[in-house]
Order: sequence, then structure tokens, then C-alpha cells
Amino acid sequence: MELELPNAAATQRLGEGLGRVLPAGTILLLSGDLGSGKTTLIQGLGLGLGIADPISSPTFTLVNEYPEGRVPLYHIDLYRLDGEEVTDLYLEAYWDEQETVPGIVAIEWAERLANLPAQALCLAFAYADNGGRNVTLSSQDSVHRDLLENLLNHDLLVDEV
Ligand SMILES: Nc1ncnc2c1ncn2[C@@H]1O[C@H](COP(=O)(O)OP(=O)(O)OP(=O)(O)O)[C@@H](O)[C@H]1O
Ligand SMILES: [Mg+2]
Repeated sequence: MELELPNAAATQRLGEGLGRVLPAGTILLLSGDLGSGKTTLIQGLGLGLGIADPISSPTFTLVNEYPEGRVPLYHIDLYRLDGEEVTDLYLEAYWDEQETVPGIVAIEWAERLANLPAQALCLAFAYADNGGRNVTLSSQDSVHRDLLENLLNHDLLVDEV
């Protein structure tokens, strides 16, 4: 499913809609070029979850945790990491083991992951000709595909192409 995001507010709104409804345990894999809107979406996600703290990309810390919303948000940015460093992070702990309080795990530069979670929602961002962005939402599993369909039916994700 592809959506048009004509401006940054639209990107944020999409994130906000997702933040209001996504269940704990959801993994969001965000991919796309530099500046394509990944952090903006996660900022919206934070709003939708009811997180008051401003969300900025993790730079010195590898994972930013926001426990105070409807469900916890774990924000990960793999941009500065090489393949080995990504492997060493052992992000599998977020989906294979119950080490953390279940929440939403949002990963920027998910294309750098060697091991993907079995169930995830993928958001691929791209620059549009008009200065805006397009995002393609997809999933390999039926649970998330049903969820996407539901969101669409309830008009939570607007401006479908
Ligand atoms: N749909 C959109 N249309 C136009 N500009 C947008 C859109 N979404 C976000 N932006 C703007 O693009 C810029 C970069 O956004 P953002 O930081 O979210 O990208 P990013 O994908 O996280 O970048 P990076 O790869 O550096 O992490 C910001 O100024 C943001 O406001
Ligand atoms: Mg970013």
C-alpha cells in the first residue's frame, strides 16, 4: 500500500495514527534515503502514543526508550553502524526474548539489519517529485496485513495513492 505524504505534517499525522492503534509488540522497520521522513514519522508515533518527551534520533545512545506512553516506544537508528556493529547490538532481544516490556520498536535504517523479525510492519520512504514523500507500507505476515487493511478502512491512513 502506497501513501502520498505531501509535507512533513502528513508524515507526522501518519505516525500519530499508527501510534494511537498499534499494539505492543509491533516492530516497525523504516527504510529510505537520508532525510526521507523516518524520524518525522516516529515523532508522530510518539504523539499518538501520548509521549510528552520530544523525540530525536538516538545518536550517542543506540536506543532511546520512552516508557511513559500508552505502550513503551523503543527508537533505534542504525545509520552510524556497520554490519558487525548491528549484529553486536543483538536487537533480536526485542522480538525473540521477553527481556523488555513489550512496546513498539521503531528501527530507522532497517535495511542494515541482517536478521529480520518474523513479523514486522515495513515502511519504505521515498522522495516524490513534488517535494513531498511517498511511503509504501507492507508486511510479510497476515496479522500486520489485516491490521493495515483495518487502518485503511477506518480512514486512519489518509491520502492513499
Ligand atoms: N512528507 C514530507 N514532505 C516534505 N518534507 C518532509 C516530509 N516528511 C518529512 N519531511 C522533512 O524532511 C526532513 C528530514 O526528515 P527526517 O529527519 O524525518 O528524515 P529521516 O529519514 O529520519 O532522515 P535520516 O536518514 O537522516 O535519519 C525534515 O526537515 C522533515 O521535516
Ligand atoms: Mg532520522
